[in-house]
Amino acid sequence: MVKKISSETVRADFNDPPAVLYYARAAHFLGLWKSERTLIERFFPDQSTPLLEAGCGAGRVTVKLWEMGYRQITAFDFAQELLDQARSLAAERGVTDITFVHADATRLNPFHSLSETGHKPVDDNNVIIAGARGFGGALFMFNGLMQIPGRENRRTALRELHRVCAPGAPFLFTTHDRDSSLTERALWRLEALRWERGEQDPRLVEFGDRYFEDESGRTFMHLPDRAEILADLAATGWTHEFDAMRREVATESRAVLDFSDECRFWLGRRNAD
Ligand SMILES: C[S@@+](CC[C@H](N)C(=O)[O-])C[C@H]1O[C@@H](n2cnc3c(N)ncnc32)[C@H](O)[C@@H]1O
Repeated sequence: MVKKISSETVRADFNDPPAVLYYARAAHFLGLWKSERTLIERFFPDQSTPLLEAGCGAGRVTVKLWEMGYRQITAFDFAQELLDQARSLAAERGVTDITFVHADATRLNPFHSLSETGHKPVDDNNVIIAGARGFGGALFMFNGLMQIPGRENRRTALRELHRVCAPGAPFLFTTHDRDSSLTERALWRLEALRWERGEQDPRLVEFGDRYFEDESGRTFMHLPDRAEILADLAATGWTHEFDAMRREVATESRAVLDFSDECRFWLGRRNAD
């Protein structure tokens, strides 16, 4: 019997050397995309507010947030190897006041730590205090949310982020979009036929999932359509405020286009309780 992809599969893939190298390189040499910077500046105007970055990986966005002037940053990831990279990048850039935590987005209660490997969370108290007051904003960049297998698990992560954020907090994230081009639509029609016949990759959890291998190693990704994300935000305490394809936000450099496919940016605003 073929094993379905689980969060353990995804975590092991991100801890694998090709993925660690890929994301560490991007963190060191690529930095923020133009579109990311534009939207962060637009939706996170208060640099003194505590920010939570989910799925920070090797710190590509984290360290840039600090360089942009944000001073209360908590960043977490469930892949220890990537988190170690993020910590050393911050140290290398002379940044000492980012709180890095080893945690899973679907279990933040109260900032559940995965520190069984002997890595102490940098500052547990600080994290819990920030969480109790409520983060003033959250980010889950470069499709990390879509790398959680199972729609109900993705909704759990959205609920967890809602729980630790303050009312009115912005939440910026990206997804792919199954309807983004005629080619995508045609490919997904073919995939739908495979699912109808039961001929899909048996490791996949749901229609829209992909599991592939490239220079960044093995990657699990759920590709939603727009209606799915709108429904997930509404079901988990977030009000949809904005969404746009990356090409509509900014023209990216060749290096960014080589690093990453087109995606859709989303901004949810945390509802009051
Ligand atoms: C595509 S990478 C992006 C990394 C980084 N944000 C960047 O933009 O370079 C997605 C990240 O999300 C993390 N991730 C996926 N599922 C997660 C979960 N359930 N909890 C915490 N981190 C998760 C992965 O370990 C990985 O570092």
